Amino acid sequence: MSDHQTVDYTAALSDRIAAHTARLAIIGQGYVGLPLAVEFARAGFSVTGVDTDLDKVTTLNLGRSCTPDLTDADLAALIREGRYEATTDFSVLSRSDIVIICVPTPLRKSKDPDISYVVGATTEVSTRFHPGQLVVLESTTYPETTEELLLPMFEARGARAGYDLFLAFSPERIDPGNPTYRVGDIPKVVGGVTAECTRLAAALYRQIVPRVREVSSPKVAELAKLYENVFRNVNIALANEFALMCRRLGVSAKEVIDAAATKPFGFMPFYPGPGIGGHCIPVDPLYLSWKLRLNGYEPRFIALADEINRSMPDHVVELTIEALNRQRRCLNGADILVLGMAYKRGVGDTRESPAIEIVELLRHKGAQVSYTDPHVPSIVIGGVSMKAVQPTDEAVAAADCVLILTDHPEFDYRRIIEIARLVVDTRNATWGLEAPKDRVVRL
Ligand SMILES: NC(=O)c1ccc[n+]([C@@H]2O[C@H](COP(=O)([O-])OP(=O)(O)OC[C@H]3O[C@@H](n4cnc5c(N)ncnc54)[C@H](O)[C@@H]3O)[C@@H](O)[C@H]2O)c1
Repeated sequence: MSDHQTVDYTAALSDRIAAHTARLAIIGQGYVGLPLAVEFARAGFSVTGVDTDLDKVTTLNLGRSCTPDLTDADLAALIREGRYEATTDFSVLSRSDIVIICVPTPLRKSKDPDISYVVGATTEVSTRFHPGQLVVLESTTYPETTEELLLPMFEARGARAGYDLFLAFSPERIDPGNPTYRVGDIPKVVGGVTAECTRLAAALYRQIVPRVREVSSPKVAELAKLYENVFRNVNIALANEFALMCRRLGVSAKEVIDAAATKPFGFMPFYPGPGIGGHCIPVDPLYLSWKLRLNGYEPRFIALADEINRSMPDHVVELTIEALNRQRRCLNGADILVLGMAYKRGVGDTRESPAIEIVELLRHKGAQVSYTDPHVPSIVIGGVSMKAVQPTDEAVAAADCVLILTDHPEFDYRRIIEIARLVVDTRNATWGLEAPKDRVVRL
């Protein structure tokens, strides 16, 4: 191998990236992979979205979006222009200059990382590796995944990092449904296995985002993402525990937090809620704990935050029981109308949603539970299939308690507190609206 050849691979790919002629394949077309694919397609690249889910691929090729961050019209336009297509056929990877991996990284039942999707996707890429390819892992994962797990899979195929293989980690930071910060607005962190790997991956992302932070290794980039989510998880836990303290002291945690947030420096407000959900905040910190445990260290903040956050569904049920009790009713036999099944406002994602556990707890105590959620038409909880009801005046007035678990913007909170017999509001969605104290209980 000569230095001259090294320059050839990097220069060739560098040129194709700059000219937007590099062919991209993005594995995993979910909340992360699809908006990313679309952003590159909009920038003029030819992008193929690869996914194992045939239904999703068929839907996407019909121009129907599966994420709140992309309209059907925008997707259809990119398909018409020949800049995006979806497929289940991994053979496209052999023709791709760049492959980005955005597959799930959930937990096993034991709460250990389930890295099988990453391994599955990387196997598909590495068995089709051709010299000069850039491969980027975006899935959130434990530190050293890129170097300890992915790199050897390529090396076993004869690839040499920094020479004919460019391998990097760049965490995705998208917040699905957030209209202020979309893929193109969020800076990227990039850490390659070698300096050349970092340089090429950073050059790629500079085509779609204004700011790219290059870091010294994939490990730093992997840890940056985990630290972001640990920070959020721990601060939500603090807000949740603070809400329990404020309740004992007879004040509203929200009012205190809002007051503290007027300090223009050194403070960032986090608010209490019914528990944490989604694919990231409850899951990612445990990837870090797992890795540290292998290194003989037990992270304490993560464990405590996890314990507090996971206790919130029980607390919400207690609040509901107390509120009903004050109205001389009991939970057993009560009609509870849950507002919001998704784990956060404005989206239909129910993964790890605390609402699921709360519904199960309520049912277990004898409540009759129905729900409304404009983003979640149906759901199966504990083997029971549920269909969303409409939040009509009749439905709201008929419930013994309306339990707000997700503060979707579509709900008419003013009307709800006007006509509901009892509202338990775990999101402070009714904050600022006047209501008799014994009819609206806030977390
Ligand atoms: N959703 C978020 O808000 C968010 C934000 C930042 C980072 N992340 C991280 O990004 C990664 C992806 O998350 P997501 O929310 O997009 O997941 P998702 O479940 O929405 O999408 C993943 C997609 O990958 C497909 N898939 C699974 N295995 C595959 C394989 N071997 N080959 C091809 N396709 C495969 C699935 O069918 C699915 O369509 C995770 O590591 C997650 O932690 C998610």
